Amino acid sequence: MSEHLPDALVQPTHFAFSDDNAEKAKAIIAKYPAGRQRSAVMPLLDLAQRQEGWLSRAAMDVVAEMLDVPPIKVYEVGTFYTMYNLKPVGKLHVQVCTNISCWLRGAPEVVRAAQDVLGIAFGETRRDSAATLSEVECLGACANAPVMQVNDDLYEDLTYDTAKAVLEALLKGEKPAIGSQTGRRGACPCKGATTLKDKAGDHVLKETPKAAPKAAAKTSPEAGKETP
Ligand code: FES
Repeated sequence: MSEHLPDALVQPTHFAFSDDNAEKAKAIIAKYPAGRQRSAVMPLLDLAQRQEGWLSRAAMDVVAEMLDVPPIKVYEVGTFYTMYNLKPVGKLHVQVCTNISCWLRGAPEVVRAAQDVLGIAFGETRRDSAATLSEVECLGACANAPVMQVNDDLYEDLTYDTAKAVLEALLKGEKPAIGSQTGRRGACPCKGATTLKDKAGDHVLKETPKAAPKAAAKTSPEAGKETP
């Protein structure tokens, strides 16, 4: 049986940045040239979300007022990107990518592991608010697919077993290693290096090669003639 919260959502009627965040908001807006302050919309929405845990309509209205733009301009941004949570999420926000690269490399198994461990389906939050499970379209780490993001951290090169182990550890309050779960470095080829295998230091030449003989200068009947 799914242990998820019902969908009812009550929008708060009020939002205000904390004193600390109000200062941060001012500093963010000041980064943009005069007349371009509306470009601060994304970091301001992120700041509001980090304060409240999700992005309410009241928060978007406050951002619109700060940037002197119609509220619809802010709603358009807030509702477009999945990075903004338009309803409260659990302590762990588990986002599993099911886009093409991840799908081809085993995303369905990651989805299965997440559903097995969390006991919820996509779009649901656990009744104990420990976790929310979301389906997302590309987390920008396609080279290390399949990938899931939990809060601000990415877990890459997942299988059913590693995804399960990561989520079980997180639910226990542990901090599993982030990044590749197979130990590959960055986005190097998953089966090891195939080119440029030597490390930089291995390229030092053992012997100085003999200088190549200078090519004989081409001669022509005109060569050597002095210009009158
Ligand atoms: S397709 Fe999954 S991270 Fe890009």
